[in-house]
Amino acid sequence: MLNGTCMYKKDKTSQKKITPIVADNLSVSFGSVNILNKINFKIHDKDITAVIGPNGAGKSILLQTINGLTNIQKGKITFNSFLHSDDIRKKQALVFQNPTLLRRNVLSNMEFIANIYKNIDKNIIQNSLVRCGLGGYDQKSARLLSGGEKQRLSLARALLTKPSILLLDEPTANLDPFSLKLIEDIILEENKKGTCIILTTHDMAQAKRLATNIIFMNKGEVIEQKNSKTFFNKPETNEALKYIKGEILL
Ligand SMILES: Nc1ncnc2c1ncn2[C@@H]1O[C@H](COP(=O)(O)OP(=O)(O)OP(=O)(O)O)[C@@H](O)[C@H]1O
Ligand SMILES: [Mg+2]
Repeated sequence: MLNGTCMYKKDKTSQKKITPIVADNLSVSFGSVNILNKINFKIHDKDITAVIGPNGAGKSILLQTINGLTNIQKGKITFNSFLHSDDIRKKQALVFQNPTLLRRNVLSNMEFIANIYKNIDKNIIQNSLVRCGLGGYDQKSARLLSGGEKQRLSLARALLTKPSILLLDEPTANLDPFSLKLIEDIILEENKKGTCIILTTHDMAQAKRLATNIIFMNKGEVIEQKNSKTFFNKPETNEALKYIKGEILL
């Protein structure tokens, strides 16, 4: 503390840990509309966090905010006490709900990221593609991939960068059961290697299978953050109880 104000680290973060992630009264609005409202949470590096809640709760915007893509109006988010920076963004990867791919073939989409990040050779590219079930897809036009294949290509690209924080927005929403298992296994493997994973999902069974930590949101607010078992066994709020039971939240 200095003169009553907390000093946040601003020095180079390239070699440094960027977890825990702490949101402190974080608020984001678009124009006059409040989208995230005074959000607080703490996410540890060992966590797989599932952000859950109804449509429009603010889950995707929260992931984008963690990735530094929104303007924070009030409050703050810190990464091991560091404020956001290009270095921190480079250590994260965000796989969007509707991924944007280059209008080129699968391999070019991978090489594009490899060229930005350097030190990513052909073997690493092929390994990522195979892990995501896209072995042999090199020459296929990304534009012509199915929804699920696009999502898997987007994850394969994200894995190339070996992120410390992997943000996945509904990563299995369009996937068949085989692909779903493939992606869930990758999530668990990456987490075991030390990657902090934050995903959004509407699949409560998936949240139970994967998550150690739950952030439950509604109407732009974090209503509960809990250890996954505690959350599902004993939600603290009526809203969470209703949501788990599949009832409409008004
Ligand atoms: N660019 C934008 N401008 C204005 N409002 C936006 C914008 N993007 C999102 N919103 C609004 O922010 C709110 C939260 O959106 P968000 O996409 O985060 O919801 P979500 O929880 O991810 O929902 P879903 O489960 O449907 O994916 C919604 O009411 C949405 O309409
Ligand atoms: Mg969303």
